[in-house]
Amino acid sequence: MSDLNHIVDDARVAFASATRPADLENEKAKFLGKDGALTKELKALGALPVEEKKIRGAAVNQVRQQVEALLNEARNALAEAALNQKLATEQLDVTLPGRGLAAGGIHPVTRVTRRVAAIFRSMGFEVADGPEIENDWYNFTSLNSPENHPARSMQDTFYVEDKDEHGRPLVLRTHTSPMQVRYARQHTPPIKVIAPGRTYRVDSDATHSPMFHQVEGLWIDKAISFADLKGVYTTFLMRFFEDDNIQLRFRPSYFPFTEPSVEIDMAFGSGPNAGKWLEISGAGQVHPTVIRNFGLDPEEYMGFAFGSGLERLAMLRYGVNDLRLFFENDLRFLGQFK
Ligand code: PHE
Repeated sequence: MSDLNHIVDDARVAFASATRPADLENEKAKFLGKDGALTKELKALGALPVEEKKIRGAAVNQVRQQVEALLNEARNALAEAALNQKLATEQLDVTLPGRGLAAGGIHPVTRVTRRVAAIFRSMGFEVADGPEIENDWYNFTSLNSPENHPARSMQDTFYVEDKDEHGRPLVLRTHTSPMQVRYARQHTPPIKVIAPGRTYRVDSDATHSPMFHQVEGLWIDKAISFADLKGVYTTFLMRFFEDDNIQLRFRPSYFPFTEPSVEIDMAFGSGPNAGKWLEISGAGQVHPTVIRNFGLDPEEYMGFAFGSGLERLAMLRYGVNDLRLFFENDLRFLGQFK
């Protein structure tokens, strides 16, 4: 019997020394495996006389049950230790603040563009869109800009290396005015349209950016006069700024594609800042040569056009004093427009 008890003691020590499940299974083989200590005892039973076999057999069985019980205990202990370790390393701190999803917002220039479009739509204008890479006929020639006009010089215009399919130079459009010609050539009067979009010039300071936005306006019919321009544009601005007391200045100016031409300034600031003006638009009666390039007879049709700076309108509406802020994508700035 004492030799059998020894097996149980050995198994207890062996199983306790195993720190990983694989080690434990190796230790198990030493007792219950093919050449294990207990297996040998069971085999040896066969050589014993019947009476002895009964007694010895019962004892060996008992030991085997003890060894198996020890094995199960050891297995459970290892599994529990593994679980505890996992729980400790995968700890979840439910008191941490959540990561949260920051709500986005519409860019102020986009908001202003949508607002302008909504107001002009309510006055019966269509909204059109056109290419930002333009050929020099639409950008300059069709708008009555002579070959030697300074706006064509390299200082003002971004030229594209490629030419169009007719071999004409391509430029990043310097204004939205080419949309007057594009739209008018595809529609019949009355023509009443605005065309907002990106424009490009080699220019950069607090009120200029190399990429900026304009909205072009065009109303052509049999008798659309400068008085209509003043009425429509003033109404637009009163609605845009939700203020019937805005102060406007239609200052005589020059554009090749309008005659007469004006620049439209708006007063801003109050108190000690009062009396400052910001130019927000060029405008005028469309030049007869341009009407002809629309494919229309200037003896029959007339009307006005304007081209306004959308960033300028945004600056006045939101009280922003540097136009470049709109394009720096600083979320501290943009977040204020949510
Ligand atoms: N295209 C002119 C500019 O960018 C503005 C303008 C548009 C003037 C239409 C008159 C008529 O400065």
